[in-house]
Amino acid sequence: MLQGKKILLGVTGSIAAYKTPELVRQLVQQGASVKVIITAAAKDFVSPLVLATVSKNEALQTFTSEDHSTWNNHVELGLWCDIFLVAPLSANTLAKFANGNCDNLLTAVFLSCRNTVMVAPAMDVDMFKHASTQKNLEIIAKNNIKIIGPESGELASGLTGKGRMTEPEDIVQEVINYFNPSLPLRNKMAVVTTGPTQEALDPVRFIGNHSSGKMGVAVANCLAAKGASVILISGPSVSLGNLNKSIKVIHVTSAADMLKACKQTQPDANIMVMAAAVADFKPEGFSEQKIKKKSSEGLNIQLVPTEDIAAEMGKLKKEGQLLVGFALETNDETQHAERKLKNKNLDFIVLNKLEETNQVFGSDFNRITIIDKNLVTTPFEKKSKDAVASDIVEKIITLVQ
Ligand code: CTP
Repeated sequence: MLQGKKILLGVTGSIAAYKTPELVRQLVQQGASVKVIITAAAKDFVSPLVLATVSKNEALQTFTSEDHSTWNNHVELGLWCDIFLVAPLSANTLAKFANGNCDNLLTAVFLSCRNTVMVAPAMDVDMFKHASTQKNLEIIAKNNIKIIGPESGELASGLTGKGRMTEPEDIVQEVINYFNPSLPLRNKMAVVTTGPTQEALDPVRFIGNHSSGKMGVAVANCLAAKGASVILISGPSVSLGNLNKSIKVIHVTSAADMLKACKQTQPDANIMVMAAAVADFKPEGFSEQKIKKKSSEGLNIQLVPTEDIAAEMGKLKKEGQLLVGFALETNDETQHAERKLKNKNLDFIVLNKLEETNQVFGSDFNRITIIDKNLVTTPFEKKSKDAVASDIVEKIITLVQ
């Protein structure tokens, strides 16, 4: 599957580096030529000799060979590879990538590389969750770097959580997918919003809705399966257990957070799918303290509108960018959907009608109608949300440039 493909593997200082000989072995088994660059910190976890043996190439460590007679030309290495795969990617090297630091051979190759870069982060759960790491991941995702994982599970520290490097066989599968020319969205970047938003009233209460986020997750998975690099902007309490490992998730709570994440990712997106059930109203003020119950009195909450994220994305839409919205209606559905299509500058809208026979929230099934810019209306049968996502993505494929 990888015959004739050139993979440059960068190995950085994370315990998961011990899995890299197996990763190299599997890439070689698939027919790839593999060269390895290993950082000084990674040598504590895996031996350069083992990597040299399985890759059949010297494992490069510094800008020059040990006797200083040969220069390991970072520019040539960056040009040589079809993919520069960094696995595991430590929090430290991630920070260097995000900031353009260049203090070793691996980071110099990163800056020189004109071809695809894929990374598989691996670190302890709290390091991964840290705001700085999340910010750095956002920066590199925006620069079209494909992020694989990390996975949840038991970590070397004894803690449990997100931070495990994606298993070598899954990383190899991502590499194989990349080279599959039949994947129609191979070079596209997609942003999908999903789930509800929560608009806080006080530290313990919020205004929200019943959205499970399943539809957006299904669309994100389907876009990734067609080769797109996907960023999922997810509201709270969405189950992400079956999410494709290559999808980068940005967790948000309120409509304002979601808008901010959309604005950050929109400039680089080819496709934007607004599947979130954004709360339309938020409390005018936030009470820093829990609002106390006074037995004889009711409570009036003044609500103000939230930002309309899809409409905002419609205003910012770039030439060639595709913007897809959803409409959930109970009555006069076509009329409402067509109005939203126009007002939000969408390329097409996916209409869900909430009725006895189509309980959208939480269900694994959905019946949709797609209405495009020319008001061509295509109704679909009731199907699983995965099958509905596939219909939506097929429509995207016909329209994306
Ligand atoms: N949407 C959004 N931001 C909002 C409200 C909606 O991005 N504040 C997006 C949704 O993700 C969806 C589309 O706009 O893609 C339509 O959402 P919907 O709730 O059906 O419509 P609204 O515009 O909120 O209008 P209404 O609630 O009056 O039907």
